[in-house]
Amino acid sequence: DWTTGNVIEEQVARIRQQVGDGRVICGLSGGVDSAVAAALVQRAVGEQLTCVFVDHGLLRAGEAEQVEQDFVAVTGVKLHVVDARETFLAALAGVSDPETKRKTIGREFIRAFERAAREIIADAGEHGGEVRFLVQGTLYPDVVESGGGTGAATIKSHHNVGGLPDDLAFELVEPLRTLFKDEVRAVGTELGLPEDMVWRQPFPGPGLAIRIVGEVTAERLDTLRTADAIARAELTAAGLDREIWQCPVVLLADVRSVGVQGDGRTYGHPVVLRPVSSEDAMTADWTRLPYDVLARISTRITNEVAEVNRVVLDVTSKPPGTIEWE
Ligand code: XMP
Repeated sequence: DWTTGNVIEEQVARIRQQVGDGRVICGLSGGVDSAVAAALVQRAVGEQLTCVFVDHGLLRAGEAEQVEQDFVAVTGVKLHVVDARETFLAALAGVSDPETKRKTIGREFIRAFERAAREIIADAGEHGGEVRFLVQGTLYPDVVESGGGTGAATIKSHHNVGGLPDDLAFELVEPLRTLFKDEVRAVGTELGLPEDMVWRQPFPGPGLAIRIVGEVTAERLDTLRTADAIARAELTAAGLDREIWQCPVVLLADVRSVGVQGDGRTYGHPVVLRPVSSEDAMTADWTRLPYDVLARISTRITNEVAEVNRVVLDVTSKPPGTIEWE
């Protein structure tokens, strides 16, 4: 029967069996899933594991630091950082189609892991060998929505499932592939990860790229990062973090509307607030946020983010909407 203890024991045994004495890398995104996957693999094969943080430039404010400091401080794991900000931006140039974005990002992640593997081997000198295994924090819902293995339709290609390139040279280790988010959180807690890490709200691997409707550019990322940081700060200040599952902020980069500020005309972009409540992200309802919190977020974003002159609220459940806009 299902207990977190059983899941941990079973997965630790399976990981040991799968990787033997091979070298393993695990991508860390700053999110719950990759953190718990890494902690499981660390428990199973400790020294054979190096975590890899791909800084793709699509993260929210403060997230790179969270990975580089918090996770390493707690687990003592070996960390290798790849600065892939320019590579990702270049690969995404001119791309507006959501599935193309997702597949581009999935491919670039793998290229970055290959680069990390070469660098890790080079650093190890004569004891180098090779890196054969890549750990991913894939969950059951990621598999389902990517149409994985069930013959079901692809809703969207999660970057770590349907977005993988065909010439993948790694063997995948995916210890969370049968689990839902609440189960992953229970496993993380049992493994001793701190509460604020385990209860972090979900954030998609493709990051802010799938929250910019239109082409991804450095300027648009900066705009969205600023707006998102304001929304998150106000939601946290209002004590709503546990009540909402997540609250994407989406920049409609291809839409403009007329506004007025001071005595001048503006012609800026809207951002969408997408607060949702959910158990497992398979279905969701829009969260009825207090009006005063919405008002504060709106006032601050339109005052503090020059390119944004309208804040709108998404009141669609899932289905028919998905949580993310792309
Ligand atoms: P949707 O938009 O499909 O999102 O309703 C369901 C949940 O999955 C997250 N999400 C992703 N997470 N890689 C991820 O790691 C992805 O490609 C991806 N796409 C969506 C989304 O934030 C929500 O929690």
